[in-house]
Amino acid sequence: MAFASFKEVLLDGYKNGYAVGQFNMNNLEFTQAIIEAANEEKSPVIFGVSEGAIKYMGLEYTVAMARVAMESAKVPVILHLDHGPNRDLVMKCIKAGFSSIMIDASHYPLEENIRLSREIVDLCHAVGIEVEGELGRIGGTEDDLTVDERDATLAIPAEAKRLVEESGIDALAPAIGSAHGPYKGKPELAFGRLQEIRDLLPTTPLVLHGGSGIPDEDIRKAISLGVAKINVNTENQIAMTKVIREVLGNDANAYDPRKYLKPAREAIKETVKQKMRLFGSSGRA
Ligand code: 13P
Repeated sequence: MAFASFKEVLLDGYKNGYAVGQFNMNNLEFTQAIIEAANEEKSPVIFGVSEGAIKYMGLEYTVAMARVAMESAKVPVILHLDHGPNRDLVMKCIKAGFSSIMIDASHYPLEENIRLSREIVDLCHAVGIEVEGELGRIGGTEDDLTVDERDATLAIPAEAKRLVEESGIDALAPAIGSAHGPYKGKPELAFGRLQEIRDLLPTTPLVLHGGSGIPDEDIRKAISLGVAKINVNTENQIAMTKVIREVLGNDANAYDPRKYLKPAREAIKETVKQKMRLFGSSGRA
């Protein structure tokens, strides 16, 4: 078995109206919970690994754990660099065995985002690896350009088209008002903006970051507007930590990590399974 093709997996979702979950890997328990959920749900799955998670787990351990999970899986599995910051880390991940890459140059001006994304696409495509890019905007005034508060982090559709066409990225994460981490109030996704981007880029799978805490009906609407990959991390972290708190709170003498990590792993698995059902990826593998 090998890791699956990022583009093929996303395009299947895109064409058939479902999204594939990217679940972030933070340790062994996450890895096991995510793959067990995928097997039980018969769902394709993406392991997302951020730079911070690589630092925490170590690059070799990360790839080894994902590889063991993939080899035991009966479903397509992808090992994806989440928010790749630069060429250096991208190269290291490719060499270590990652199967797809996100380059996040969204904090740069558009031209630099296009240039860096193009550079990463060229080196990744040369070795058969596909790439996700990101686009968003920072609020306030810069030179003679003002971006109002509502548009602060939203991707501009015409820029999204340029980024995709000029860099050659295989999937686009446009900022549409979602955020990483727990939401303070109800998230307000800019569906009109998503629709405009989809109309300009009718063949490009879109990616929704900050998938935790978004109401189910908004998730379904985003999928209907071309979102084919949804990233989830925080909800799994919360599920895990809640169980650990409960177990330790109920037994002040507990000391064996397996006593709380086992139910914590179950909690992550249940959370992932629910997301797979919501995203419509269950039964697709
Ligand atoms: P959450 O942690 O908000 O689920 O977001 C995950 C994510 O988007 C990773 O890129």
